[in-house]
Amino acid sequence: MKKVGLFYSINTKKTTQAAKRIVESLGSDTLEELNAEEVNEKQFTAFDNLILGVPTWFDGELPNYWDEFVPALEDLDLKGKKIAIYGAGDQVGYPENFVDAIGIMAQLVEKQGATIVGFTSTEGYTFEHSQAQRGKQFCGLALDFENQSSKNKERIAQWCDQLKKEFN
Ligand SMILES: Cc1cc2nc3c(=O)[nH]c(=O)nc-3n(C[C@H](O)[C@H](O)[C@H](O)COP(=O)(O)O)c2cc1C
Repeated sequence: MKKVGLFYSINTKKTTQAAKRIVESLGSDTLEELNAEEVNEKQFTAFDNLILGVPTWFDGELPNYWDEFVPALEDLDLKGKKIAIYGAGDQVGYPENFVDAIGIMAQLVEKQGATIVGFTSTEGYTFEHSQAQRGKQFCGLALDFENQSSKNKERIAQWCDQLKKEFN
């Protein structure tokens, strides 16, 4: 497996906690951690394998730091890159927008030619609508710290095992 760029905001509590578990599961030799709040085009295109930490905010939107990167992102050529997205959301508080930001980010990078990996089953979650849903799957890993935090460890470990097979 080629080196993986793990992009997340270092100022988040939950997204960072999940990132640390991902590092434990995939191994620090394989990963380089980068701060999503300062991400630039050069960093983003330096990897063939990327993991993006994208929590949902503002009733179904990207957090500000990812939103600010979107204009630059829309100019990038991401062909040949595999991108896995994880994101925190609250299925009880926001059942109509559950982990929407995973789906928003997936669409943005797919439009630039990237392939999304790390799809997971929607089984075990209760929500009404999610932009991250495709059939019976999410196009990433949904983590609900508010309501299902006890499942995070297992969900992350399983997802990382899957990524080991799916990444370049
Ligand atoms: C103002 C606000 C808006 C939110 N909107 C959504 C939402 O639309 N969908 C969702 O699934 N979760 C939503 N959440 C829940 C957050 O995604 C959740 O708390 C997440 O763990 C935040 O991760 P972070 O602290 O690492 O940024 C919202 C939380 C807040 C405080």
